Amino acid sequence: MKRVTLFDKTFVQYIPQEEIERAISQLAQKVNADHANAVQPPVVLCVLNGAMLFTTQLLKQLNFNCELMTIKLSSWCGGTESTNQVRECMSLSGSVKGRDVIVCEDIIDTGNTIEYLMDLLKKEGAAKVEICSMLLKPEVYRKSFRPDYIAMEIENRFIVGYGLDYKEIGRNLPDIYVLEK
Ligand code: IMP
Ligand code: MG
Repeated sequence: MKRVTLFDKTFVQYIPQEEIERAISQLAQKVNADHANAVQPPVVLCVLNGAMLFTTQLLKQLNFNCELMTIKLSSWCGGTESTNQVRECMSLSGSVKGRDVIVCEDIIDTGNTIEYLMDLLKKEGAAKVEICSMLLKPEVYRKSFRPDYIAMEIENRFIVGYGLDYKEIGRNLPDIYVLEK
């Protein structure tokens, strides 16, 4: 079993890269099928930093014209638990007015971050907002709306790797690791 130590915590391998990327490929097929007839190129919005690796892997497999934008949000203040406060660290990189937006997130936990983002995108005049997340923790998710695309569901445990961090490190790990019990 592969293990990594990040500062004071030990993590064990949880989802290997091949499995993550297989799930992303399956997701890409669904996104492609649903956007095959898009009139205007949709915006693929990468939520930095966590969704960087997921967005990269997904984007390469999208076969319709699309525009990449970014925003940097943060709801976790360097620990292993979500806070209710969502912070906008870097604003939207472009205008979403009248555009269809596919939001790419690393993980949906309580749902506070995507709720905040959906409100913001509507205020900015987006025509349609779809939520596409690599991971979902269904046990913790508290919102009534259903995300449009989820690659994998996981149990309520703290994970790192494939873009996800613990105190800003661990994002570069190609596999996903879980905090040791
Ligand atoms: P939410 O706002 O509670 O849904 O939390 C979503 C955000 O918290 C994600 O975009 C991640 O950046 C972060 N997050 C949630 N769960 C984890 C985890 O297990 N490890 C690392 N970051 C996480
Ligand atoms: Mg995130």
